[in-house]
Amino acid sequence: MHSGMQSPRGVWWKPAHRSEKVWFSIAFAWCLVLFAMMPFWHWKGGQNPSGIRSRVDPADFRARVSEFIAAYKVGEENGYPIVEPPPGSDIYMMGQMWSWTPILKLKKGVEYTLHISSVDVNHGFTLYPINVNFQVVPGYDYGLRVTPTEAGEFRIICNEFCGIGHHLMLGKVIVTDQNGEIPGETAVSGKATP
Ligand code: CUA
Repeated sequence: MHSGMQSPRGVWWKPAHRSEKVWFSIAFAWCLVLFAMMPFWHWKGGQNPSGIRSRVDPADFRARVSEFIAAYKVGEENGYPIVEPPPGSDIYMMGQMWSWTPILKLKKGVEYTLHISSVDVNHGFTLYPINVNFQVVPGYDYGLRVTPTEAGEFRIICNEFCGIGHHLMLGKVIVTDQNGEIPGETAVSGKATP
């Protein structure tokens, strides 16, 4: 019988071999490097939000989105409004279970301030196939400064589980080129909604 009160049997307490010490030192040094990278990427990585965060009541945000749609609506697709705001303006995207409203029609090379928020639970904004990811949190308005760099049609996918309809939570951004045209169907064509 063995208990914690007795010394363990065996030879595990022999001094560590030199190679073991070397590997331990390398691993420890690497831990410190990775630790230092966290603040480093915060300043140098370019992945931080490009805008200003402010608080917003979900009901107020919904009202602003409705105003925005009413002002610049140019069409409709599967019941979702297509909105073409003037270049350089403040634009709005509302996440809710389980849709992204409206469909934005933007111009390539023009900077907009994208106000994005949720009116119910957390959602995740992913622009596909571009690597853009953003947490969309109710009660906060993120004024992100965005400049579309590529013309085409892009899907918005929700990447934060938000209930039974999470996988159906799709949206769309249309980017026109300098001539106001959309280049032929992209890799993300298809007839998903909206
Ligand atoms: Cu919204 Cu998942």
